[in-house]
Amino acid sequence: MDNHNLNISFIGGGNMAQAIIGGLVRAGHNPQRLSMSDPDPAQRDNVHAIHSDIQVTDNNAAMLDAADLIVLAVKPQIMATVIGALPATAARDSCVFLSIAAGITLDSLQAWLNPAQAIVRAMPNQPALVGAGISVLTAMPTTTEEQKGWAQYVAAAMGEVAWIDDEALLDAVTAVSGSGPAYFYLFMEILAACGREMGLPAELATRLARQTGFGAGRIADESELELKALRSRVTSKGGTTAAALDILEQSEFRAIVERALRAARDRSVELGKNN
Ligand SMILES: NC(=O)c1ccc[n+]([C@@H]2O[C@H](COP(=O)([O-])OP(=O)(O)OC[C@H]3O[C@@H](n4cnc5c(N)ncnc54)[C@H](OP(=O)(O)O)[C@@H]3O)[C@@H](O)[C@H]2O)c1
Repeated sequence: MDNHNLNISFIGGGNMAQAIIGGLVRAGHNPQRLSMSDPDPAQRDNVHAIHSDIQVTDNNAAMLDAADLIVLAVKPQIMATVIGALPATAARDSCVFLSIAAGITLDSLQAWLNPAQAIVRAMPNQPALVGAGISVLTAMPTTTEEQKGWAQYVAAAMGEVAWIDDEALLDAVTAVSGSGPAYFYLFMEILAACGREMGLPAELATRLARQTGFGAGRIADESELELKALRSRVTSKGGTTAAALDILEQSEFRAIVERALRAARDRSVELGKNN
């Protein structure tokens, strides 16, 4: 089947679902094959505004009708309740569920759905909201290659996609790319604050920090050079960048970042145990 004609349903129509739906429609997905359920009429209006042919409802059970793939896009804390309220139908057994909920394991999803259910779990990140995310996917062995291909197609609407076999590594993924955007925002905040302290107008300092983050990210994305090589291209011996980087190295910047990421990874492990 042409992926553009897959029947794709969304349970939960908030930020992430809208980002995926928008990405799918832009990529040429047939909007008549998309449907979404959400109790909030404002979210249903938002999705309808992306394309008026997308079916919207407040009835989650209706998402099972004819769906090839169902995206579970509700908050993690209500996932068990939402799945528990879905009717047990043959339609439910034959489709693949794609969960984007942070920290909800495949084992939990399987226990709430059924032992033979095809399930893919994705760990996306916030830039998914603008189609510039990266999602790492992992699947239950019950999921066919074709169903994995469908999940890959849907996740690609949020940006890049990678797969891992070992679900436990999603805790490290969470530490790097899941929480990662916040580290970069913090760094930009610090750049802007220092710029202000050095006398720059506040608006200009913020603009410099934002655009530098964006530009460096874009070069890192587009260049074939290693990150270290890109860094050395901005760092002439005895120059301004070298002076700054010397201070970062002397202050054990690397060790601090490593400690921070380990804390994020360990917290992800801890939260996973509660789901
Ligand atoms: N946002 C991110 O950057 C990000 C990154 C990685 C992973 N995720 C994961 O993506 C998932 C969705 O996040 P989000 O940011 O899109 O959250 P969101 O904007 O709050 O969307 C969730 C939607 O689900 C709706 N909902 C509540 N109860 C429901 C029910 N019983 N049945 C169907 N829908 C229901 C909510 O409606 P109400 O507003 O009325 O409650 C809301 O519209 C989460 O599990 C999160 O962990 C998000």
